[in-house]
Amino acid sequence: MSSFDFQEREEVTRGARALVLLPVHREINSRDINARLEEACGLALAIGLTLIDRQAVPIRSARPAMLFGPGQVERIAEQIERDQIDLVIVDGRLTPVQQRNLEAALHAKVIDRTALILEIFGERAATAEGRLQVELAHLDYQASRLVRSWTHLERQRGGFGFLGGPGETQIEADRRLIRDRMAKLRRQLESVRKTRALHRDRRKRAPWPVVSLVGYTNAGKSTLFNRLTGAGVLSADMLFATLDPTMRSVDLAGVGKIILSDTVGFVSDLPTQLVAAFRATLEEVMSADIIVHVRDVSHGDSEAQRADVLNVLDELGLTPEADGGPIIIEALNKIDLLDDTARAAVMDRIADDPAKVALSAATGEGVPKLLDILSKQMLGPASDLTLDINAADGRRLAWLHDHGIILDQQIMADHLRIEVRLSRADLARYQQLDDQ
Ligand code: GTP
Repeated sequence: MSSFDFQEREEVTRGARALVLLPVHREINSRDINARLEEACGLALAIGLTLIDRQAVPIRSARPAMLFGPGQVERIAEQIERDQIDLVIVDGRLTPVQQRNLEAALHAKVIDRTALILEIFGERAATAEGRLQVELAHLDYQASRLVRSWTHLERQRGGFGFLGGPGETQIEADRRLIRDRMAKLRRQLESVRKTRALHRDRRKRAPWPVVSLVGYTNAGKSTLFNRLTGAGVLSADMLFATLDPTMRSVDLAGVGKIILSDTVGFVSDLPTQLVAAFRATLEEVMSADIIVHVRDVSHGDSEAQRADVLNVLDELGLTPEADGGPIIIEALNKIDLLDDTARAAVMDRIADDPAKVALSAATGEGVPKLLDILSKQMLGPASDLTLDINAADGRRLAWLHDHGIILDQQIMADHLRIEVRLSRADLARYQQLDDQ
């Protein structure tokens, strides 16, 4: 019988009283520290933990035994006892040895950043592919920590570390089980991918433009998606409210049907073990016509977040626009949270940039501008037309109202002069109206 339980998670319990510790190496400045702490706390809240305290812990040199120095560990242990903390989240990397030693010294459960993000993925993965990727990432993480599992199991079995005892062979057996399980998952993943590719091909045949929302976690993608689609997509004050792309088709005036997809949020320093799980959710983005990069402009670290998102897209192999890749539009969200000066500065900065728009997904301000940019990008520059129409030609007028965006309308002496935005396809159809 196997000693290895595949369902075994780090067993983070919802509602557990948590302490977030950020190991701080000298080169980080204080603004970065706050932003990092903020994000780590956001991640903790996303899986329903009760946040008791957060602290930056300066580290002069990482200690192999416990990461932190003995004095620091003692102080943390005192706080854990005083505040009855169940769970310590170290927002960094811990070796299995460090994790084990810290748990022993602190008498609390200790997890690192990778384990925390895995917890979130595990909770939020919605599609078959997302779930498989998360399980793979989790097994990979467990395999790298097998030493710890073994010690833990030894303890459970009442083992006393007999020389040449069952430990070594047990690790080998567990490794093999994990390897087999991972191979099986990869095969399943392959077949899920094939189905997905099939769906994508089918969609390609229907010539609908695809717009993907991407952005840093908590930037407001789901809120914007909701506003654009009116669909009841989960939008809570939580990170990773969406792990798998959520697709909806919407009618964009003047363009017609488009597919809008919402994606998982990015995080800084994504642990490499988790990149594949992200890749699964971002495949759709790679084939989008337009990417709307949603940014939280009210966030102190907005610029660094922007760089993170662009880096990850780049790492995932996004082709630049010049080589036929998607157009990227930046939606500078949450302007309702800015004071007048900051808002004016943002407006000023983007005034001459046709690929940027300031908006508030919450209040709706600026959203029409985004729609305008989207339709312009999809239709190309030659799409704004001035047409002279007989005022009595009701059929033609109705057609233009149905298929285009009327930008301006003037009553001339014997006709109407209409400025209208039309897609290329609709322009061709409009011209054919003459022959009917
Ligand atoms: P992930 O799913 O974690 O990637 O997050 P997301 O980018 O989808 O963010 P979401 O839409 O869930 O919004 C995060 C939080 O920001 C929620 O509490 C929203 O209500 C809030 N929010 C979103 N847009 C705005 C906005 O324009 N103004 C304000 N004030 N809050 C906003």
